Parts: sequence; C-alpha cells; structure tokens
Amino acid sequence: MNFDPQEPLMIGVDAVRIGQVLDNLISNAVKYSPHGGALSLRVWADGNDLRCEVSDQGIGMSASEQEGVFVKFFRARSAVDRKIPGIGLGLMISKTIIETHGGSLSFTIHQGEGTTMSFRIPACVIGAEMSSTVT
Ligand SMILES: Nc1ncnc2c1ncn2[C@@H]1O[C@H](COP(=O)(O)OP(=O)(O)O)[C@@H](O)[C@H]1O
Ligand SMILES: [Mg+2]
Repeated sequence: MNFDPQEPLMIGVDAVRIGQVLDNLISNAVKYSPHGGALSLRVWADGNDLRCEVSDQGIGMSASEQEGVFVKFFRARSAVDRKIPGIGLGLMISKTIIETHGGSLSFTIHQGEGTTMSFRIPACVIGAEMSSTVT
C-alpha cells in the first residue's frame, strides 16, 4: 500500500470517528480488490481543507450500482455475486460522519480499473458535535 502524506495540517476532528471512516474506506479497498492490486492513501492540505483519497484497482461498480452506494444496507451485485462479506452500512455511516464535520464524501469509479473514495473536511470545523444516531 502506498501512503503519501503531504505537509502537516492542524485540524480539529473527532479522531475516533474519522478513524472509523478510514477503517471502512481502506477495508473496502482491500476486500473489493479480490485479485490484489495497488492501494493508495493520500492525505493533503487544500487551502484550509483536509483532503483524503483512498484508491484501489478492484472491481469497481456499474453505473446503476453506484446510485445505491450511500443507501443503508446497500450491497452491489458485483460484491454479492463474489461472496465478498459485508452488511452495507460502512459508507452510509462514513458519509454521515464526514458531513457532521461539515465536509463531503464522494467517489469516482474508473471503469475496469478500480475506485477512488475521497473526502474533504473544512479546517474551520473544530470540535464537531457528533450525532448520537451515528453508531
Ligand atoms: N472500493 C470499492 N470498490 C467496489 N465496490 C465498493 C467499494 N466500496 C464499497 N463498494 C460497494 O458499496 C457497498 C457498500 O459499501 P459499505 O457501506 O462499506 O458496505 P460493506 O462493505 O459492508 O458491504 C459494498 O457492498 C460494495 O458493493
Ligand atoms: Mg465497508
């Protein structure tokens, strides 16, 4: 795995919750790459924002599958057919956590070449209050 941190950026976040997001994005990148391939994690400062990207060279998703990615309990047929384990909660929870920090979580599918999940958190959001509905 390629880890590519850039200049240090001071930012106030709920470290446990952001750790939960990274755990899900990285574990997804691993398990949806059943034939291996490079994973990369980039973290960098974009002005006052924190940016992070997790990229894989895995199975990706079709256009119709992509529509459900952030829906509770959604699992793409490509994942189910390959019997890759999961319950379809991680990305919904990750999106809620990033949005609670005032940021956004998005993804790009590189057809036949994998997936990049990325988020941005504005540095001005310090000590974001986490919703008790995020578990
Ligand atoms: N990196 C990825 N590559 C391909 N498909 C992915 C990737 N990340 C997520 N998915 C798809 O989105 C679905 C939802 O992901 P997630 O909410 O993390 O649930 P889970 O990993 O438990 O199935 C997955 O079941 C899979 O179909
Ligand atoms: Mg997951």
